[in-house]
Amino acid sequence: MFEGASNMVEGVDKAFAFIFGIAFIFIMGITIFMIWTVRKYRRSKGHEAKQFRGSTKLEIVWTVIPLILVLLMFYYGWIGFIPMRKVPSDALRIVAIGRMWEWEFDYGEGRISRELVIPVNKPVRLDLVSQDVNHSLFIPAFRVKEDVVPGYDNFLWFTPYYIGEFDIYCTEYCGLLHSAMTSKAIVKPEEEFEEWLAELAVQAAVPVPEGFTLLRNTGCLACHSIDGSKLVGPSFLGYWGTDRIVVEGNAERTVEADEEYTLRAIYDPNSQVVKGYARGLMQSYTGTLSEEDAMIMIEYLKELAGDK
Ligand code: CUA
Repeated sequence: MFEGASNMVEGVDKAFAFIFGIAFIFIMGITIFMIWTVRKYRRSKGHEAKQFRGSTKLEIVWTVIPLILVLLMFYYGWIGFIPMRKVPSDALRIVAIGRMWEWEFDYGEGRISRELVIPVNKPVRLDLVSQDVNHSLFIPAFRVKEDVVPGYDNFLWFTPYYIGEFDIYCTEYCGLLHSAMTSKAIVKPEEEFEEWLAELAVQAAVPVPEGFTLLRNTGCLACHSIDGSKLVGPSFLGYWGTDRIVVEGNAERTVEADEEYTLRAIYDPNSQVVKGYARGLMQSYTGTLSEEDAMIMIEYLKELAGDK
């Protein structure tokens, strides 16, 4: 009854079932008792209301029984929680990075994946790192959830039991695209996992353009895709050199996506907003992004236009 996709399922589900069971019995019991008393003790002819004060027996009953119940709730919760903080020393260590608004999984030596790929039946430890604000990593099927707080070394661990794909969510409100901050945990047989990891190492050896790294680390890619898909802001694909219809004040203008326009979009984003997009969502990068870095980004945007 309590088996599931990871070793944490049993403890969590037992505590949940116990608390839910108690709550269910109480809501049914109280409701039925209430209806019964309303009927039985309603005002009726020939009956006079009896007055009485206090009952030590009742006081003891309704103090001791709930006390035992909440202590049992604590016990089940505690028993389920203890193993979550005891990581086996042979656990596979992966750094899970949260940033607005994506997850990234770092297997070391430059091997970075957007999805959490892991071998079945092996303990996995995720070291949780935030590059900006508070996030929370949640894998419902594994019954694991921990806050990802900047500057604080948090972790979680689990052993996945089933091969398959499981949803990963961010469950701490972290801004505009919080609800889109999702990923997948992909559990593979160990051999397939090793193959995948080797393939990831090959990819890691291919140099990534500096402009791309800058765009990613600055957080630009959270709102601007490089594959043409529309996110919060326009895509970077096929951006460079095209005519943009922008809204400036209340007037529409057509401007070319060149250096001047792009710098203005970075440092004074709300002075001109591309038609069809909302004003005020992007903040100025004055003071956060140097002009040299902006120029490296611009070089990359030019390359993207060439790829089209
Ligand atoms: Cu990250 Cu919500």
